[in-house]
Amino acid sequence: MPQSFDLFFVSSNYHKYQEAKKILHSFGINLKFFKYELEEIQSFSLQEIASKKAIQAFQKYKKPIIVEDDGLYIDSLYGFPGPYSSYVFKTIGNKGILQLLKQNRKAKFVSIISFCDNKNSKSFEAKIDGSISKTQNGEGWGYDPIFIPKNLNKTFAELTNKNELSHRYKALKKFSNWYLHKLKSNGQ
Ligand code: IMP
Repeated sequence: MPQSFDLFFVSSNYHKYQEAKKILHSFGINLKFFKYELEEIQSFSLQEIASKKAIQAFQKYKKPIIVEDDGLYIDSLYGFPGPYSSYVFKTIGNKGILQLLKQNRKAKFVSIISFCDNKNSKSFEAKIDGSISKTQNGEGWGYDPIFIPKNLNKTFAELTNKNELSHRYKALKKFSNWYLHKLKSNGQ
């Protein structure tokens, strides 16, 4: 397994890095961390937000980097909070989200992984369908205690295999397929 590439994850969220590191390790990629809060543009498009952050991060560190942007989209709220998920978590939090919802609890979590180096700037998107629980269940970070993946009856916070099925796992899998192929064709 190749293990020697310098690839950095730039984020202010250590939880995300820990999950990304575990997931990429399973694909043979060693991920390092730059803890830094990147500036975020205002946009309805997570992809646009993530790719601008990746370019910013590469300009700062001059190393191959990835950044991630996520959004929780709730059907009965017309996709809210979507690109505002971070702000909504910091303000009304999981308790506030639970108070807003009634019968229809369908939701999805979207992850965008954006890569940037001196040659490429590329994004990978994935989602996981699911629903919002009626109460907070389990000890997890962010929206983990209220998000139940489709066809399961436990929240992300209660599952032991979140990293094998999450939006993050799926987006990182797409990224690593592309990245490992790129390294191989460059003879690395
Ligand atoms: P961000 O803007 O990409 O940092 O993420 C939007 C919001 O979703 C933040 O409040 C994150 O904590 C939260 N979030 C992102 N991914 C996850 C996850 O896998 N589980 C729980 N919350 C998450």
